[in-house]
Amino acid sequence: MDRITGKTRVLGIFGYPVEHTMSPLIQNQAIIAKGLDMVYLPFEVRPDDLKKAVEAIRALGLLGVNITIPHKEAVIPLLDEVSEEALLSGAVNTVVNRKGILTGYNTDGEGYVKSLTRDTNFELEGKNILILGAGGAARGILASIVKERPEKVIISNRTFSRALRLVEEFRDKFQETYLIAADLSFDTLKRYMEGIHLLINTTSMGMDGKNSVELPLNLLPGDAVVSDIVYKPLNTAIIKKAESLKLKTHKGLAMLLEQGALSFKIWTGVEPPLNMMKEVFIKRLRCIS
Ligand code: ATR
Repeated sequence: MDRITGKTRVLGIFGYPVEHTMSPLIQNQAIIAKGLDMVYLPFEVRPDDLKKAVEAIRALGLLGVNITIPHKEAVIPLLDEVSEEALLSGAVNTVVNRKGILTGYNTDGEGYVKSLTRDTNFELEGKNILILGAGGAARGILASIVKERPEKVIISNRTFSRALRLVEEFRDKFQETYLIAADLSFDTLKRYMEGIHLLINTTSMGMDGKNSVELPLNLLPGDAVVSDIVYKPLNTAIIKKAESLKLKTHKGLAMLLEQGALSFKIWTGVEPPLNMMKEVFIKRLRCIS
C-alpha cells in the first residue's frame, strides 16, 4: 500500500453482495501494470443506500465505479447522463465522474461482441442466434448484437413472459432482425436448434457448478459456436458438452476481461493489458477452487 498517496484517484464497484467480485483483482492488476496512481475498491451498497452511494461518488471525488447486481437498472435515474447503449439495454455497469457530472455506460454488450470476435472470428451479420435467458445480461448482449444486423434472434427463457417483454421492446427498434420469444423447455429448444449459428447462455445456469437444464446441443450444426457468459467455473457444463461435440466455444472469462478493459479505458483513457488481467484471474481461481 506504499503506492497510495494523497493524490491517488479512487475507483470501485458497487454491489450487494460484493465480496465475490473479481473486478478489484483484475482492475488493480491493470492499474499497477500501467503505473497509474489509482486504486480500485469493493463497496458493499445495500439497495436502500444506492442513492446515497451515488451522491458519494461526487462528494468523495471518486473517478468512477462499476455497478453490479442488483443495482444495474436502479442506478440509471440517479445519473446525469446515460450512453445510448446503456439506455437501450436498460442497464449501467460503468459510471464515470467528470467534474461532478456522472455518466453511465454499459460495457457488457460491447465486451461480449469484442471478445466473441477476438476468440472465434464470428460475424453476427445475417446469422441465426439463440440466446438463453432474458435478464440483465441478455439485455446488454442483445442491445449490442442487434446493431450488427443478425437475421434472427430467439430469446429462450425459463419465464416466457420475460422473454416476450424483451422481444416486444426490441422489435420496433430493430426491424431488420427477426426476433422470437420462446420458453426454455427441452422440446422447444429441440425445435429451434436447427440452423443456429451461435448459442449464448446468459443465465446463471452452471454458475459455481450449479445444475443446468438439459440442452440438445447435438442438434446444432457442426460449425455453430457455443458461448457461455458464466466464468466460474472457467469451463462450464455447457462449454464441456459443446467441446465434446467438437463445436467451437467462447467462454465467459473472455467477456469479463473485455468488459472490464472497456470500463478501464473509459476511466483512464489507457488500454489495459488483457493478458496480465487474465493471468491474475486464473491464478486466483486456482487458489479458491
Ligand atoms: P443477470 O443480470 O445476470 O442476467 P437476472 O436479471 O437475475 O441476472 O437474470 C437471470 C437469468 O437467468 C434469467 O433469464 C433467469 O430466468 P427467469 O427469468 O426465468 O428467472 C435465468 N435463470 C436463473 N436461474 C436459472 C435456472 N436454474 N434455469 C434456467 N434459467 C435460470
